[in-house]
Amino acid sequence: MPIWEDLLKFVHILGVVFMSVPLYNLVLVNERALLGPGMVYSVDRYMENLIRKSALRCHVFQATVLASGLLLTHLELGLSSLFTEWILAAKTLLLLTLMGLLSYIHFSVQPRIEQLLGQVQGDPVPQEIAAALRPLRVRRKRLAGVCLFLVVTAVILGLQVFDPFNRWLTTILIALAALFAWRVYKSPVRFGWI
Ligand code: HEM
Repeated sequence: MPIWEDLLKFVHILGVVFMSVPLYNLVLVNERALLGPGMVYSVDRYMENLIRKSALRCHVFQATVLASGLLLTHLELGLSSLFTEWILAAKTLLLLTLMGLLSYIHFSVQPRIEQLLGQVQGDPVPQEIAAALRPLRVRRKRLAGVCLFLVVTAVILGLQVFDPFNRWLTTILIALAALFAWRVYKSPVRFGWI
């Protein structure tokens, strides 16, 4: 295999690793929740800055994975295999779904959060603004849990392009991915897996 094709594979996998944004954003919001239910302007502003800016980074990593994946497919199997190899088709669909969900959060949910938080000058945060923010944050958190599940599922399938796993192993791993995403949604997973 030519050296630059190895390099392309490396970029593909690194992009996948850096798409772990939902994991760390869920840890971030769960840690914030441990500080108590009331809003503290500087803390919440800081957290929202981190989350808002991580979306753009994630768009770039997703685009990297898509572009490198398409190139690898073109070089190794031919682009028509996107329609004939179910693993490749599923990976592509999962990635497009992830791109759609991130775009929804970035272009629809986050601007509404920013618009509300932009009206706040400092503490105390007005009750009506805190109340309007809550459902938006809950929706964003749920979607982050879904994204985490989809990313792990895409990794499980990603490993099987040339050498499929046993069907039962794939099913069990996807079930474990759902369990892990649920766990990360609920708690800051101090010990990695739990
Ligand atoms: C979130 C989406 C994706 C994830 C998590 C992912 C993950 C992976 C992983 C872990 C591998 C390494 C497999 C191995 O070395 O055994 C891989 C390889 C590969 N991926 Fe992806 N991938 C994704 C999207 C895509 C897309 C959209 C395409 C095509 C359009 C694609 C095409 C390929 C190809 C052709 C390889 C084989 C490279 C080789 O082993 O030479 N991937 N992917």
